[in-house]
Amino acid sequence: MRALVTGAGHRVGRAIAVELAKAGFEVAIHYRTSRAGAEATLAAVRAAGSNGLLVHGDLARVSEVHGVVDAVRGAWETLDLLVNNASMFKPVAFEEITLDHWETMMGVHVRAPFLLTQGLLPLLRAGGATEGRAPGEGGVVVNIADIGAERPLPGFAAYSVSKAALVMLTKALAVELAPAVRCVGISPGQVAWPPDYDEDKRERIARRIPMGRVGSPGDVARLVRFVAVEGAYLNGVILPVDGGLQARY
Ligand SMILES: NC(=O)c1ccc[n+]([C@@H]2O[C@H](COP(=O)([O-])OP(=O)(O)OC[C@H]3O[C@@H](n4cnc5c(N)ncnc54)[C@H](OP(=O)(O)O)[C@@H]3O)[C@@H](O)[C@H]2O)c1
Repeated sequence: MRALVTGAGHRVGRAIAVELAKAGFEVAIHYRTSRAGAEATLAAVRAAGSNGLLVHGDLARVSEVHGVVDAVRGAWETLDLLVNNASMFKPVAFEEITLDHWETMMGVHVRAPFLLTQGLLPLLRAGGATEGRAPGEGGVVVNIADIGAERPLPGFAAYSVSKAALVMLTKALAVELAPAVRCVGISPGQVAWPPDYDEDKRERIARRIPMGRVGSPGDVARLVRFVAVEGAYLNGVILPVDGGLQARY
């Protein structure tokens, strides 16, 4: 079994890579700036009993997205799972959003998942590792969105719009690529703190969550594994993993 996880040098991406390794996946660990983090992820993947490779690229740049596709196609002939996880979460007041910021958000959250899926489609069609899948059913694309794709946070217009587009890309691919390739979205709530949130802000957020606590990268990782390994009939859905936050008024 083989998976590509983007943005896997830290946090949620690393947890996904390691969870997949535990389930027997080899993992292509993509990173942009976090070379040391990606190496640590690879070490953790090996410690979990599997293996992998490092893949580098700035997903805001089309030529580098093609480079990621080429690197995976050069290493493997089949792919069972593509996880579009890489992301930029940066507040910018609406009046201050530059064209460059807007295009970077759309580039990383929408264009890159589109190009990676398109470029790796032959491998995904030839792959597939989900228990109980029918003949002709291959691999799966998992897009990591955000509950903010439906309920935006002030200061995150470009982020929220790009994640909402990723949700629609997920549904569009699900109806067009199935049954050969499934496409599923996962929308986390709070599962890893942005480094600049102080204790007060963290407590305020946690109090609003019906579960009474924030989640963890592992909560997302275990859901990715479930979708890839056991979710043979999951397609075109966006699964929240948010402790009930989205359900709350
Ligand atoms: N954290 C949460 O509580 C939360 C909540 C809702 C949704 N999510 C979603 O869950 C996913 C993972 O969250 P996270 O907090 O672990 O993410 P993160 O740490 O903010 O970002 C993950 C990785 O994305 C990579 N990345 C950023 N810009 C890139 C670019 N231009 N090209 C290539 N890679 C780029 C970075 O790689 P390098 O470090 O190598 O540069 C980074 O390590 C994201 O899709 C996020 O939107 C997270």
